[in-house]
Amino acid sequence: MKFAFSEISLPKRGSLAIAVFADKKLSPTAAEVDKVTGGAVGRAIENSRFTGKKGNTLEILSPANMEVSRIVLFGLGDKDELALRDFENLGGSLLKKLNAAGAKNLTVILDGFDDTAVKESDAAAQVAFGAKLASYRFTKFKSELDKDAEPTLQKITVECKSSAAARKAFPDLEAIADGVFLTRDLVSEPANSLYPESFAERCKELTSLGIEVEILNEAKMKRLGMGALLGVGQGSIRESRLVVMKWNGAPAKSTKKPLAFVGKGVCFDTGGISLKPGPGMEEMKWDMGGAGTVTGLMKALAGRKAKVNAIGVIGLVENMPDGNAQRPGDIVTSMSGQTIEILNTDAEGRLVLADALWYTQDKYDPELIVDLATLTGAIIISLGHENAGLFSNNDELADQIFASGKDVGEGVWRLPMQKEYAKQIDSPIADMQNIGSGGRGAGSIVAAEFLQKFVNGKPWAHLDIAGMAWSKKDTPTVPKGGTGYGVRLLDNFVKTYHEGK
Ligand code: BES
Ligand code: ZN
Ligand code: ZN
Repeated sequence: MKFAFSEISLPKRGSLAIAVFADKKLSPTAAEVDKVTGGAVGRAIENSRFTGKKGNTLEILSPANMEVSRIVLFGLGDKDELALRDFENLGGSLLKKLNAAGAKNLTVILDGFDDTAVKESDAAAQVAFGAKLASYRFTKFKSELDKDAEPTLQKITVECKSSAAARKAFPDLEAIADGVFLTRDLVSEPANSLYPESFAERCKELTSLGIEVEILNEAKMKRLGMGALLGVGQGSIRESRLVVMKWNGAPAKSTKKPLAFVGKGVCFDTGGISLKPGPGMEEMKWDMGGAGTVTGLMKALAGRKAKVNAIGVIGLVENMPDGNAQRPGDIVTSMSGQTIEILNTDAEGRLVLADALWYTQDKYDPELIVDLATLTGAIIISLGHENAGLFSNNDELADQIFASGKDVGEGVWRLPMQKEYAKQIDSPIADMQNIGSGGRGAGSIVAAEFLQKFVNGKPWAHLDIAGMAWSKKDTPTVPKGGTGYGVRLLDNFVKTYHEGK
């Protein structure tokens, strides 16, 4: 789909979308269209329940005295309550509506609110961004597409004052969307086609954007002593991999240490010998969501040439039951030297991250580490599908991540960490055990306490995205399936706090 930005002028064809504010107050363009059409806009509003409430729309087909095929009035609500994020949702909703209607071209005109907190040109870029995010589809495994249901929209033109600013802002947003799409693709792909080696190959493709990609195979990881990660993968016929992606975008003279992002990449989690129940197990194809987000984030950063040095590290394994699989009760030695008693082979993500985190801080001495993982079912019990769990040893970092998420509509909520929880993973015979002794209580916190033992005191935040990586329902900008959650949050975090200002 194509996007364009231009100054305001009524289109000669296609579909036209124009704004109405609360209490039926027409935007300047809506008032003009009302005049041109002999009052069609006003009459349509009078004959409906549409009042200009935010999120509502009203359609006028084949208006008189104009050659456009339809006019869509979209409500923006109270001007004082406008937020930039509304426009992203507007873009997504319009895209869906016009595809359903079979439209090919859409012109969206934004005017009448430049006196508010939201700049019209910023809003214009967001409308296009929202439409782009909503246009995502995962069709790789469809051998035939249903022609009658195919999207029809080919071009969206967003018109506003100072449209050059929107045109200038859009390429970065497109790069971010491309990162989100990569994450969605990876998360939605099943485990027979996306396994550690093939995932690592997909990362290799990012070299074309200037990302350096290094792939560690099992032999290399063995030499490094990554017994925790390798133990998880040992029951699978698929070899494990650790992938390091480096983006060096900071000015050459920069002396800042890199930012590190680490992801759990369990390409399929059967639970291993502590086998999961059958129903719903297919969902565990997306247990590599953390790694998917890290990979999409790297693509976004490189795509918009972020002025930062960032490292993405993903631990890729498949957790399978097998004659060679790890047993409950086994004790492994992690790269850090700490030993771990495995009491449940389904608590495997933390084992993968243990070595990925240690390797990252040991080899790259990063300024900070943020890890992402579909780590615990318990976080879904705590926070549902509205917020990821945030855990950190650093208040400033936690606050920045919280604010970055809020900005882009990707929520996080911080949970506590304290030594009483950490006590739960004391093992009588090893340095720690991989599940808590407290039964089902505080499962997500106990998991975070486990991870903390592998960051060596570095500023660190952990996002438990088990409730966020996958969606069973459509929202205006996120079709159901892999959501791409976290790419925008962390891109915004990098941009706001780490691109030298
Ligand atoms: N991958 C799961 C967590 C998960 C559950 C992600 C549901 C997405 C949706 C993780 O490896 C796991 O199995 N965790 C166990 C930990 C328990 C054994 C301490 C869990 O949450 O039950
Ligand atoms: Zn598991
Ligand atoms: Zn898992």
